Amino acid sequence: MITLIKNASQIFTVESKGKLFKRGNDLKNICPLTNHSIVIEDELIKDLVTNNSSIKADEIIDAKNCIILPGLVECHTHSAFAGSRSNEFLMRLKGATYEEIANAGGGIISTMKAVRDSSFDELINLLYPRINHFISQGVTTLEIKSGYGLSFYDEIKLLQVINYFKKNSAINIVPTFLGAHTFPPEYRNDHKSYLELIINQLLPFIKKNNLAEAVDAFLETSAFNSNEVDLIFSNAKKLGFNLRLHTDQFNSIGGIDLAIKHKINSVDHLEVIKDEDIEKISKTKIASVLLPGVSFFLDYQFAPARKLIDHNAIIALSTDFNPGSSHIPNIQFIMQLAALKMKMSIEEIISAVTLNSAFALGLSDKIGSIEIGKEASFAIFNAKDISELIYHIGYNLNKFTISKGKIIYT
Ligand code: NIG
Ligand code: FE
Repeated sequence: MITLIKNASQIFTVESKGKLFKRGNDLKNICPLTNHSIVIEDELIKDLVTNNSSIKADEIIDAKNCIILPGLVECHTHSAFAGSRSNEFLMRLKGATYEEIANAGGGIISTMKAVRDSSFDELINLLYPRINHFISQGVTTLEIKSGYGLSFYDEIKLLQVINYFKKNSAINIVPTFLGAHTFPPEYRNDHKSYLELIINQLLPFIKKNNLAEAVDAFLETSAFNSNEVDLIFSNAKKLGFNLRLHTDQFNSIGGIDLAIKHKINSVDHLEVIKDEDIEKISKTKIASVLLPGVSFFLDYQFAPARKLIDHNAIIALSTDFNPGSSHIPNIQFIMQLAALKMKMSIEEIISAVTLNSAFALGLSDKIGSIEIGKEASFAIFNAKDISELIYHIGYNLNKFTISKGKIIYT
């Protein structure tokens, strides 16, 4: 079956020229194609041809007055959660900080309690509309972390919920194991035993049952220290997992050196990254995943995106959607924040939510750009020019989401 997407005002090819990512200096080189159609066969991009070419198609999708981007890649979310933290939001409005609330037993632990109290089916019912909400914005790959179970049973329950959607969703769902999110109350004074649970029981079980692609950790004074993460990473690496790290959000305590030591996929957050670490990370092939929704939601400083880009780092952007620090399930708003608050250009932002996010997930050979042989997944926006994408704040400009050659949202 051949499908043709015709008549778009522009197609953003995010030319990767065989490269799996774009560094700061290349981010600007996005080449819009005009007067072209995309030919799709067997879920893949077969060709890019001029609009007047005489291809016989079984189905034609008319993208008149629209611009086509690769399907957006959401590379960092905590979408699988239960409960609400609106009470903590109110406390913060009255002056309490995120860290104070976490240290007083709220934060991640309060969501952990709600997740432990929820059944598999209840969690499925909570996650389903959230995935659909991302799809409506043009997202065709969505990473989802565990990290709110923090026991063997509840971490596996969360990963099974995420894997249910990996099997049954129309988009790519990428599960990540975040058992090292924080220490649960029963191990608060016995870190060693919780590390043993992760290393000796959870990691081998998750690998054997193929429940996660990557292992993530939260390196922070209120969570795991660098020796603890080092141990988890060494073991996860031996089992063949991709590695990710939440680091330099509130404190800079050795995360960048650790990331470089283990050659991990991405360092995420970086609100307080030091200048010398910007230089170090920019020389590596580790993606810097910036999460401006967190800074907005916590009314906190933004990551130094311009400095990172000017040093030639590999920048990706994501919502970090979660109930406590970024209750913002909206990638288009994150793109707008990146423009307004981190002074990223539209071209830089597009690369950061497509090819570079795919790279952070280790998937940029298959998704993230519009090139022959890649997955036929697209976000088609009702816009004449890309400037519209960051101008219409609070309005969903996405007209069609196409995943693997099929319209899944219109
Ligand atoms: O990425 N930093 C740690 N984890 C999440 C927040 C999780 C929560 O507050 O529930 C984050 O910001
Ligand atoms: Fe996060």
